[in-house]
Amino acid sequence: MKLQPDWLLPDLEKARKRTQTPVARIDSFVIPESAKWIGRSKKYYISTYGCQANERDSETMAGILDTLGFEKADSPESVDVILINTCAIRQNATEKVLGEIGNFKRLYRENEDLVIGVCGCMSQEEGFVENLLAKYPQVRLIFGTHNIQDLPRMLYEVMHEGKRVVQIYSKEGEVYENLPVHRFGNTKAWVNIMYGCDKFCTYCIVPYTRGKQRSRTMENILEEVQELKHQGFKEITLLGQNVNAYGKDLDEGINFATLLEECAKIGIPRIRFTTSHPWDFSDDMIDVIAKYDNVMPFVHLPLQSGDDEILRRMGRRYTRESYMELFQKIQDRIPHVAISTDIIVGFPNESDEQFENTIKLVEECKFDNAFTFIFSARPGTPAAAMNDPIDQETKSKRLARLNKIWNQYALEKNKAYEGRIVEVLVDGFSKKDKHVYSGYTDTNKLVNFTGENIHPGDFVKVKITKGKTFSLDGQAI
Ligand code: SAH
Ligand code: SF4
Ligand code: F3S
Repeated sequence: MKLQPDWLLPDLEKARKRTQTPVARIDSFVIPESAKWIGRSKKYYISTYGCQANERDSETMAGILDTLGFEKADSPESVDVILINTCAIRQNATEKVLGEIGNFKRLYRENEDLVIGVCGCMSQEEGFVENLLAKYPQVRLIFGTHNIQDLPRMLYEVMHEGKRVVQIYSKEGEVYENLPVHRFGNTKAWVNIMYGCDKFCTYCIVPYTRGKQRSRTMENILEEVQELKHQGFKEITLLGQNVNAYGKDLDEGINFATLLEECAKIGIPRIRFTTSHPWDFSDDMIDVIAKYDNVMPFVHLPLQSGDDEILRRMGRRYTRESYMELFQKIQDRIPHVAISTDIIVGFPNESDEQFENTIKLVEECKFDNAFTFIFSARPGTPAAAMNDPIDQETKSKRLARLNKIWNQYALEKNKAYEGRIVEVLVDGFSKKDKHVYSGYTDTNKLVNFTGENIHPGDFVKVKITKGKTFSLDGQAI
């Protein structure tokens, strides 16, 4: 592979930088004359990995492609453009993506005009792009999380100038308003309230792949929420890596509690938010969640570890005691709240005793749901350079033990729903059975239920007949 002079490759050193420079706020989206209508009679397919930030980015890319005249397809067969929006949070995410790119090789052999593009957080990693360039000639477009607005020009260069385009800015980032959007659902919508992250937890790649924390203005966010209400959306989720740090980078004297309250007043039936870091979770936030019926009684509160020394080495800025205090407060003040969490086992040099501290905390909290992971070393992060004598087998055993324990509590919590009547916002048919509907409760519990004359987007009262580990069964009443 020969590096081309106009390729912009990722640079973690630059991505790590944080300055006090105010971010640029860009309101206009201009399509170069040459790129207009390059998608006429053509189709695209987007494959999305990772978190809701990526889901929302894919909706922006789809919006841009629609504007260029492309049509969205639900399968990669016989399309003209495939975009793979990647996630870099753990190594196994990387492997899945490479597997998928490998599969698309067949489509490229059948149609050499096919544009396969790779974007998202993996593009922002250093070694990954070089590997792609060297081993995957079918990939002709690679761009980063800060380059989405340039998609029209990049596509033009690939499609009409026969170029291989690599454009990855490693920078703090801007805030783009008014980029087109093609929402993938018509009941639930994602609303970005901020981009990036400044927390730099020592294991995490996100601050490098997404730039510094940049809050959108409250005015722009509320306008979007109004518009979504007008379009008939039933649920919105306010998105950010640390929603409770919202506004700290603005000069407006506002915070997440204010924003949440203003969103609630607009009157969308259901409002959710994610992710709330245990640091910065204010009493005002708890009050707003408790006060408004349309702010859902559900909090995702990542724990990561129940051991103080590990938390300190992770750079999480709270202790098991302060986590428990917050957990208790949320539980006491928000009626029938459900709380879920994220936990990492096998952080470098985590001892048996330190792991047991996590187990003890899980036994105290009895989470409704948990996302549990084995630590994955992300090149360039401080934790990747830490001494780690613990073998993978021990880590896998810890994960299995942790899962067994939280599953028991989740089952217990869900069993307590048996006989209760809950309100479900219907998504559609259950994945496994076309005679069964599915949707979520206010507490974010998945409900599979039977009933008649039910449509996606309906609110339905459902009597719970069975509580299972990961879902509830019920009957519409
Ligand atoms: N901003 C959110 C987390 C986003 S990443 C927060 O601070 O809570 C989602 C989850 O992935 C994290 O909560 C963490 O549990 C997990 N994760 C992140 N980096 C990881 C790594 N290097 N190895 C294993 N799990 C990781
Ligand atoms: Fe990653 Fe920590 Fe930022 Fe969450 S808060 S995205 S875990 S650095
Ligand atoms: Fe993955 Fe990037 Fe989200 S690394 S978890 S897609 S911010």
